[in-house]
Amino acid sequence: MPRVVLGVSGSIAAYKSAEIIRGLVKAGAETRCVLTPNGSRFITALTLATLSNQPVAQDPFDRSLWDMAHVSLAAWADMILVAPATADLMARLACGRAETLLDTLILASTCPVAVCPALHENMWLHKATQRNVALLKGYGYAVWGPGKGDLASGGQGLGRLLDPEEIVSRCLDLCAGLRKKRR
Ligand SMILES: Cc1cc2nc3c(=O)[nH]c(=O)nc-3n(C[C@H](O)[C@H](O)[C@H](O)COP(=O)(O)O)c2cc1C
Repeated sequence: MPRVVLGVSGSIAAYKSAEIIRGLVKAGAETRCVLTPNGSRFITALTLATLSNQPVAQDPFDRSLWDMAHVSLAAWADMILVAPATADLMARLACGRAETLLDTLILASTCPVAVCPALHENMWLHKATQRNVALLKGYGYAVWGPGKGDLASGGQGLGRLLDPEEIVSRCLDLCAGLRKKRR
């Protein structure tokens, strides 16, 4: 059973993470969610916890967590999926920052990381974002998307989060590849 940490950051597309959890859980993946503080402005921890049937980790300083969540989740995960990933989160990851629990966890992990950007087209095309994405790829992270089409922020263009089914399918393929390697 694949173990997936789903990181959710503060994009208007965060509501789609609910569909991603449903797809992962339906496919038999154990899923634990990590929500950034700004992500919680867009979707509640209650929704993510209910759909994943697991508590949602949010605060690295929360002593009620049984262990340091960034270390324990990093050791637990087969892979970390970030969907949606904001421009700001990608910038933090590119710099190796450890500001929120999600950035800290990714910095502390050695498992595969897949990042699914969701942002306005101009934010995506900005040289700073393109440089950050190139850095993430250089660290070995997969960058899935963004897609083109209707944007949640209005209008059309590049920057759309890939469809949840597509993300779930890529995630399951990646986990299946990991299992094969272990054999
Ligand atoms: C209504 C609204 C929608 C937003 N949507 C996006 C988005 O889709 N992508 C993005 O990169 N930032 C978006 N932002 C900006 C992020 O929320 C902001 O950069 C935030 O600091 C990201 O925090 P996080 O990456 O720690 O979750 C949006 C902001 C607002 C107010």
